[in-house]
Amino acid sequence: MENITKIVNDFGESIVRIDGNIPIDLPAKNGDRFLFISHDQSFLTHGLHKYPAKFFPELPRWLIKRYSRENDWILDPFAGSGTTNVEALLSRRNSVGIDVDPFSRFISKVKVTPLVEKELKLAQKVLLEAVLEYRPSLVTESDLPDFPYRDNWFNKEILLELTYLKQRIHALDTPDAIKDFFKVCLSSIIRAVSNADDNCTRTVIRKKLNKLVRPSDALNRFLKALSVKVPKMTAFSQNYPSDITTDFPEDMDARNIKYEANYFDLAVTSPPYVNAVDYPRTHQLEMYWLGFAQDSLTALKKQNVGTESVSASHYKVRHEIGVPEADKVMANIFEIDPRRAYIAFKYLDDMRKNLIEVYKVLRDGGRYIVVVGNNRIRGQLFENWKYLMPIAEDIGFEIETYFGSEIIKHFIKVPRGERINTDWILVLKKRQKHG
Ligand SMILES: C[S@@+](CC[C@H](N)C(=O)[O-])C[C@H]1O[C@@H](n2cnc3c(N)ncnc32)[C@H](O)[C@@H]1O
Repeated sequence: MENITKIVNDFGESIVRIDGNIPIDLPAKNGDRFLFISHDQSFLTHGLHKYPAKFFPELPRWLIKRYSRENDWILDPFAGSGTTNVEALLSRRNSVGIDVDPFSRFISKVKVTPLVEKELKLAQKVLLEAVLEYRPSLVTESDLPDFPYRDNWFNKEILLELTYLKQRIHALDTPDAIKDFFKVCLSSIIRAVSNADDNCTRTVIRKKLNKLVRPSDALNRFLKALSVKVPKMTAFSQNYPSDITTDFPEDMDARNIKYEANYFDLAVTSPPYVNAVDYPRTHQLEMYWLGFAQDSLTALKKQNVGTESVSASHYKVRHEIGVPEADKVMANIFEIDPRRAYIAFKYLDDMRKNLIEVYKVLRDGGRYIVVVGNNRIRGQLFENWKYLMPIAEDIGFEIETYFGSEIIKHFIKVPRGERINTDWILVLKKRQKHG
């Protein structure tokens, strides 16, 4: 096939490179490594909002087409910004996306909700006129939202502009779904017009960057965002299959999936990595503006698999997960940093709970596809994907295959020993029950 090439990387390893759509019947056997080059990062609604560790759409698209049929039910228990769900919908599969983070559920919902083109364009026009009419005196100080370190994160002019835009969206005479779409557009520019570094998953101000945010930047960026996102949303709405259901339930957790047994035909996910991205902190500014958080993010952080919010009473003693390779690494970490050792243990324990839940809600023979990489904890290589396989087998999954997806950013530069640049795709199959 013309979009497939065999390449050898700097370490002499052979890798299959695939540009764009991945052929459904691509041969993939244990240990194979692929370099997928995405062409569709912002296809239709996929690019509406940034999200850390987001799937490139071709991956869930391929897995969904390969392992399910039209009208099947697909689950993503760590749905993030809903990439799996958008792809399920476009492939005419029903789907559910679970995420503990209300901001993620909000973006995902907007990404799968079609809008009436005429209403959308009219609302865009109203907002454009509102921007042209803007004067700082239209906003009063008491209208500004209150959140921690607000005046450090944002310049005064920007605070006024963002408040004005929020008010104008709120005042639109349109269905809520359209207002929500514009709220996501507004949210998408917040990091850029804040004083925080644009290119860091953590929300931090780096004095050295001398980031310059000028008056009118929020207004201009908002209009620019609309000029890109309205056509994308219009195109999505035209491609939308109306007889397919997509849900993002509010009261669930990847470790507590309240669906009946055997409900789903396939599950596809990329769980968090231990000790990697602090999701609530990444989009804290966006959450403050959209009203999903007022002050402390601790309660939400604690719900996150991979959380670093753990209490001292838990790591007085060493914990074991029962996978010798993992326990050895955690014992080494415990020597230097008992807290980190506990964070790692809790991660695997939470992932075990998730695997048990997904096993329960999958039909017999259904697959759970988990895309997960490695990371380093206190200098120790922590091979999440390797430890998850015996845990999954213990629960009743068969390891059908596992293969690697190279992460292009680090493709050449990182020395072999240091490499954390391969995501592993584990294809777990629920064993048929006998008797
Ligand atoms: C790697 S991201 C998923 C990104 C997603 N594949 C996408 O394309 O946007 C992992 C997600 O897991 C969520 N998460 C963490 N702990 C969770 C839990 N206990 N239950 C459900 N979701 C959780 C985080 O909020 C985050 O959105």
